[in-house]
Amino acid sequence: MRLNKVDLLHSGTPADVFRPAGSDRIYKLFKRLPKDSGGRAVQAVFDAETEAYRIVNACPETASSVPRYFGQASIRGVDTADGTDASRGYHLHLCYSLSFVDGQELPAAAILEHHWGRALADRLDELGVEYWIDGSVFLAPDKSSGVLIDIATADARALYHQAFTAS
Ligand SMILES: Nc1ncnc2c1ncn2[C@@H]1O[C@H](COP(=O)(O)OP(=O)(O)O)[C@@H](O)[C@H]1O
Ligand SMILES: [Mg+2]
Repeated sequence: MRLNKVDLLHSGTPADVFRPAGSDRIYKLFKRLPKDSGGRAVQAVFDAETEAYRIVNACPETASSVPRYFGQASIRGVDTADGTDASRGYHLHLCYSLSFVDGQELPAAAILEHHWGRALADRLDELGVEYWIDGSVFLAPDKSSGVLIDIATADARALYHQAFTAS
């Protein structure tokens, strides 16, 4: 498939998140960073995030606490609104897809205010998914559960730091 910048849900430094019109899925596509043109750091972050979603999806106890993970997505290119090919800015093979989560987004640490959230944090720790605190949570309206995003099995911040400071 091709993605289009008109469908951008969020544009970050390391990745853009697209939600194609009418789709209930998002696509997180990693960018080419100036000091990581070979993509080693970005690949490491991609691996750490996809591994985390795979593990948490596979565990019946935690699966509902993250979006459904659809795996690596095959992206042929990225276009802009006027039809220009913007593919060059991305590592097209580094894209994964999740179910779209609706609602109010809060810093992930908000789960620690709830009993279920502290239990979830312990369970993630046991599963080796230790890096979620810098992510976000979409709390259920009654706050009795939540869906975490931006989780990883390795410290993305440290990996990106390498990418930005490597010479
Ligand atoms: N599954 C999703 N459902 C809804 N919004 C999402 C989803 N995944 C990402 N987003 C939106 O995109 C933003 C960036 O995604 P995130 O994985 O946190 O990327 P980054 O690594 O750039 O922080 C999130 O803060 C959220 O607003
Ligand atoms: Mg984030």
